[in-house]
Amino acid sequence: MSDQKQRLKTALTQKDWVSSVLLFIFNAVLLSGASIGLMFWGNSGVKEKGMEMSAGSLYYVVFCVVLFVTILYLYFLFENREILKSVGKIFLVFSIIYTYLFSAFVVAHYFNVYARPVVLASLLAVLLIGRKEAIFINVVCALSMFTIDSFSKAYESTECYSALLICFTAGTLAAFVGYGLKTRLQAMSVGAIVVIPIVLIIGLLEISTLSEGIGSQAFFSHVITKMGYGVIGGFSSIVFFLAILPIFEWVFNCVTAFRLRELTNHESKLLKKLQEQAPGTFNHCTTVAQIAEACALNLGEDVALARAAAYYHDVGKLHQPDYFTENQGDYNLHDELTPELSADIIRSHTRDGYQLIRANGLPRVLADIAVEHHGTMPIRYFYAKALKMTDGDLNIEDFSYPGPKPQTKIAAIIMIADASDAAVRALSNHSAEAVESVVREIIEERMNLDQFSDCDITMADLTVIRRTVVSAVTGANHHRIKYPSIRYKKTDGKTTGENV
Ligand SMILES: [Fe+2]
Ligand SMILES: [Fe+2]
Repeated sequence: MSDQKQRLKTALTQKDWVSSVLLFIFNAVLLSGASIGLMFWGNSGVKEKGMEMSAGSLYYVVFCVVLFVTILYLYFLFENREILKSVGKIFLVFSIIYTYLFSAFVVAHYFNVYARPVVLASLLAVLLIGRKEAIFINVVCALSMFTIDSFSKAYESTECYSALLICFTAGTLAAFVGYGLKTRLQAMSVGAIVVIPIVLIIGLLEISTLSEGIGSQAFFSHVITKMGYGVIGGFSSIVFFLAILPIFEWVFNCVTAFRLRELTNHESKLLKKLQEQAPGTFNHCTTVAQIAEACALNLGEDVALARAAAYYHDVGKLHQPDYFTENQGDYNLHDELTPELSADIIRSHTRDGYQLIRANGLPRVLADIAVEHHGTMPIRYFYAKALKMTDGDLNIEDFSYPGPKPQTKIAAIIMIADASDAAVRALSNHSAEAVESVVREIIEERMNLDQFSDCDITMADLTVIRRTVVSAVTGANHHRIKYPSIRYKKTDGKTTGENV
């Protein structure tokens, strides 16, 4: 099922309907008030034209805002109901609109209308919500700003129209070229691209409205100056965007490539703790990350998310690191425990991981993958140990992870990469055939135990994952030629060697 069909299928409960409608009404009121406030502010500096505004113009602005907010609601109702189900996401949408209107107004009021950060809303929305939503939110921003500008006595009507045109075209372009933005350099490239339509629109409009009688030199300098403001507008959007993005990521706990990169920095709090207190687990996580990244790349999934999810999938082991094999020395703490108690300790790391990730304010998606990465699989070692100690009358669920099963392809990738790394480390023979057989067994075992029934992974995806895991793991454990033993010596300043 395509993403769009899935989004449309999302049913709204009565609570969702009530809360989303109330929130949209609240924001319609807020946006109307903000628009009227900006209009008064804009006109307050234009003394010669007066600051009086008719009641008719105020009604018109309120009507336009209510219309835009209603259309925005209908857009999400038909295109992405997930937004309407989340109070945080509704506030995110409106916060982007408020941020754009305020920053665009201030720049135009104190500097120049063409220097507005015209692609700010579009870039924030494309990274924090999605591409289609960014295009629509940008349209709402452009029209809302145009409504405010129309009643502002500070601008010529040409400037109002070109500002509308610039915001629409440059913003839409930014939604396309800014999708998947990962680095500051890429952000600056987006700035360079969006500047092209901005300066063209400004240049052509200024030429078309040039009044007669102005000298060619004065005309040239007038157009160049306006175009210069347009260039500032394009690049100031990027500066505003890079400055504001971390605040949005933090306030709304959003996942972007920028944030994921920060989270996978080895200096980040939880990973540093893992490195110090559970070095074996940390090492395992970095290997799982390499495997998961390769799988995500080959499946066209989010590589940065796969990497971050792998890094954090086992942080729950921080609660009792010494009970996990990779952190143990010669002494095994489980030797003193019953298999039931051991299984309890081991399985708690998924729930502990979820809680630790949430308690540290990290994205929910990482917590979800941490709790899903073992699905409802039995803890084989302690189940087998218990079987040996009893007559076989055991409830396998007492020795199984509580779930849930992987809900996404990335969670399924982490599940397979995790189990593969653990199993391959236990192999004495790391040939491609041996690794292939182990990985195949891991996938088949999970299929037989119905672990992929809640995610949209296909047989073709599992084949790609199997091949990728095998190549990644055999690459990491590649065969090295045995070094010949040789002893070096120095005679008369010359180095020679001999076999030993
Ligand atoms: Fe685990
Ligand atoms: Fe693991």
